[in-house]
Amino acid sequence: MGARDIGEFRPLPLPRRLGRFLRVAWNFVVIYLGYKRIQRNRRLTPEERAARYAQQHRRAAERMYRLAVSLEGLLIKTCQFVSSRADVAPPEYIAVLSRLQDQVPPRPFEQVRTVIQEELGADPHELFLSFEERPIASASLAQVHRAVTREGERVAVKVQYPGIARVVATDLQNLRLLVRILARLEPNFDFRVVLDEMARYVPRELDFVEEGKSAERIAEIHAHRTDIRVPKVHWDLTSRRVITLEYIDGIKISDTAALHAAGIDPNAVALIMTEAYCEQILVHGFFHADPHPGNLLVQPGPVVVFLDFGMTKQLPDEFRRNYARLTIAILQQDEAAMVEAFRALGFETKYDDPATLVALGRSFFEVTGPDGRPYVDADVMPEVNERLSRILHENPVTRIPGDVVLIFRVLGLMSGLQKRLDSRVSMTETITPFALREA
Ligand SMILES: Nc1ncnc2c1ncn2[C@@H]1O[C@H](COP(=O)(O)OP(=O)(O)OP(=O)(O)O)[C@@H](O)[C@H]1O
Ligand SMILES: [Mg+2]
Repeated sequence: MGARDIGEFRPLPLPRRLGRFLRVAWNFVVIYLGYKRIQRNRRLTPEERAARYAQQHRRAAERMYRLAVSLEGLLIKTCQFVSSRADVAPPEYIAVLSRLQDQVPPRPFEQVRTVIQEELGADPHELFLSFEERPIASASLAQVHRAVTREGERVAVKVQYPGIARVVATDLQNLRLLVRILARLEPNFDFRVVLDEMARYVPRELDFVEEGKSAERIAEIHAHRTDIRVPKVHWDLTSRRVITLEYIDGIKISDTAALHAAGIDPNAVALIMTEAYCEQILVHGFFHADPHPGNLLVQPGPVVVFLDFGMTKQLPDEFRRNYARLTIAILQQDEAAMVEAFRALGFETKYDDPATLVALGRSFFEVTGPDGRPYVDADVMPEVNERLSRILHENPVTRIPGDVVLIFRVLGLMSGLQKRLDSRVSMTETITPFALREA
């Protein structure tokens, strides 16, 4: 499904487009200067410096929050990503920005009523036995209302914000501009692959019929497990901008206090998540590409509930097998196999020297630090980054395959989640059997 099929997917008029760009740029500059000021101030004691940084993190996060709430669109998605990285982002960012995972200030009910009327042909109070006018949650593209169908089933009705398609189209265009500027400044690396991949998948999120189909595919993948659940789709109450799903109760996956209170072991949840992604990515090559905490619930058992199938990805089969080979090579720290797998996936470097690809493969291990926990260790990350960028400078990566972009996104979100859950899951033990079978 291409961007053209999503009606109204065209950018806002130029003045509004420019206005958005400038507001983002201005806020970025203010935040950047705030950090620079602390960095340059040599008279601060280490304690004072830490306190200033904490204060600046909070201010920056609050500024980002206000900007995202006011501009919506991809800004909210960006903040959701940052707030999901408990492994690397400062706690102040997590605290402030987590609200944007499922508590974006909602739209008035009148707008919801209009969208439902346009999409399903009648007023929500006629279509449903009962319909709660106050939403239970709201995120980047839609808000969700609880309702009961005529057959008496409890459902979650997800209603797209009117006008959001044009906002998203505008943001993609602005991002394209930004990426072009960055590519000029730093010609060795170019984020166009990332952008192209976003431009392909973000518009698809606006078509809830596609989302319904993806939900059913993920449900199918996990049908043999009782510890993974996906809400059923009510197709008779679903169209492009409204999707009606089975209502599922649960604890937000990042709410570890509530998990403990319910007697749920977070580590068991982390294990289910790890296995779920082995099945999705390695076995089926089809995966939920947006596992931020707002999209995951937990029930006693534990049972993990996946929500929000707007962003899913199908890997070509050849790519899936090569990715399984790369996974094994990295887990077994086999350098020759890493290089071979990276190349088979379509990675290219400027010169033939394999050092860059080896360093890239090794960095997966190195970033987890000395404890061997299954997430990025923020303390070792700067050091690993520095080493990697030195090697990349000598022999840069000149091609990154687009298919890897959303996998890396998932790996990042999973790292944040594993940290949140204080996971002790052994990646080698858990992932190796899946990867060996598929390679
Ligand atoms: N079937 C359901 N049962 C219970 N709650 C649900 C259900 N579906 C969605 N929700 C709640 O509604 C919120 C928003 O829904 P959803 O994540 O699908 O919207 P979105 O705008 O696509 O989100 P995102 O910003 O992550 O793309 C979820 O975070 C969750 O709290
Ligand atoms: Mg969501």
